Amino acid sequence: MALIAYLPAMPPSTVDRVLQTVDSRRAESLEGLREFLRIPSVSTQPDHKPDLVECAQWLAGQLRSFGLKPEIAPTAGHPVVLARNDHKPGRPTVLFYGHYDVQPPEPLDLWVSPPFDPTVRKNEAGTDAIYARGAVDDKGQVWCHIEAIRAWQQNGGIPVNITLVLEGEEEIGSKHLGDFIVQRKDDLKADIAVVSDTGQFARGWPAITYGLRGIIGLEVTLTGPDHDLHSGMYGGAVPNPANVLCELLATLHDAHGRVNIPGFYDDVAELTPREREEFARLPFDEREFQKELKLNDLYGETGYTALERRWARPTCDINGLTSGYQGPGGKTIIPSKASAKITMRMVPSQNPDKILAEFKKTLRERCPKGVTIEITGEGGSPGIVVPIGGRPMELAAKAIERGFGKKPVFIREGGSIPIIALFKQALGLDTLLVGFGLPDDRVHSPNEKFDLDALL
Ligand code: BES
Ligand code: MN
Ligand code: MN
Repeated sequence: MALIAYLPAMPPSTVDRVLQTVDSRRAESLEGLREFLRIPSVSTQPDHKPDLVECAQWLAGQLRSFGLKPEIAPTAGHPVVLARNDHKPGRPTVLFYGHYDVQPPEPLDLWVSPPFDPTVRKNEAGTDAIYARGAVDDKGQVWCHIEAIRAWQQNGGIPVNITLVLEGEEEIGSKHLGDFIVQRKDDLKADIAVVSDTGQFARGWPAITYGLRGIIGLEVTLTGPDHDLHSGMYGGAVPNPANVLCELLATLHDAHGRVNIPGFYDDVAELTPREREEFARLPFDEREFQKELKLNDLYGETGYTALERRWARPTCDINGLTSGYQGPGGKTIIPSKASAKITMRMVPSQNPDKILAEFKKTLRERCPKGVTIEITGEGGSPGIVVPIGGRPMELAAKAIERGFGKKPVFIREGGSIPIIALFKQALGLDTLLVGFGLPDDRVHSPNEKFDLDALL
């Protein structure tokens, strides 16, 4: 249903024909998505670099097959696929953005079917879903739009000017897309950006997302002795970087679940009472949420609900910890090094550069002098909110109502799509976030899926 959203007033019969075309292509469409999902386009792993190129070429081929003229634009990283139809004066212009890169599939042994061997089977709710890395994030959702455009092209052409930007570096922070957008500013002129890389609020509750958190990523590495030491011979007399790392990381939060970095909350845009009411009205049960995650309790900043914490409060989380021996059994050593991968989620109006600088300064000050500390990490993206209302959002709401049989709810989400802030800054564009994912899609996790109901 994705592309009905782009309609200016079209005769209903045309829309019906487009929908019939989509329906009649179900089998081919699913086959196409399987091909897309088979390409292991893991952007963060250098071994997969050729797969990203292959994926970009494959996408370009798909777009070419229904008359677009795609360009594969090289960047200093993975390529961008840029395509447009013949733009006609007087029509609204839509910039569609999506990403063809995916997160690493590891740990592999937890997948029921292999991550790059897309498999259709029933999900826990008893409906059909396709399981693969990238199924919902974001290949399946990009595919919705490609199939919608294809159907329009087979019925006289899509009635808007459309420009597609499909990138291969979203999952690594869109490192090179910023430069690309600034350089190609004139080619990217549009009235609205459209992105399907978010979710529905719940099964049966389609949503339009009006806010996302931003993100800063960094890595802290501590070095003690220049090689591993026998922990019996040296333990107790030398600093252990793993112990020190744990102490340092433990200082990052206080007893109220607040991030303990000076100035961290200074610029945070507080939720308005009205927004808090609106969040509270959504059908969300914290105990259900806890149960679904098989948790015995929830966690978070005192004074905020789970939705508020996830959507509108900044956080700091360890994403990976590495030190010492990780194989079976034990190994009695003082490890030479210890490191942590950390991300902080930003909300409007925090400045990611300022927060990162304060984080680095604070951790360096807290680090005892027996170990050396190195912190890598630069840039980051700010949290965003887009205005609710306006013609594109109204049309999207109508399309959603037609497709899902239900009006969308307006939500914020906690994830990040780094480039969106730049659409506003560099191109002056607001972004319409219409996502088709579901909370149980296991985004970034083993057994990621996309429900076929959302796809076709
Ligand atoms: N599609 C997600 C963002 C998202 C997730 C939005 C859930 C709303 C709900 C995107 O692909 C993503 O995972 N972004 C990363 C960015 C990071 C790696 C720079 C994220 O949020 O962790
Ligand atoms: Mn995504
Ligand atoms: Mn993602």
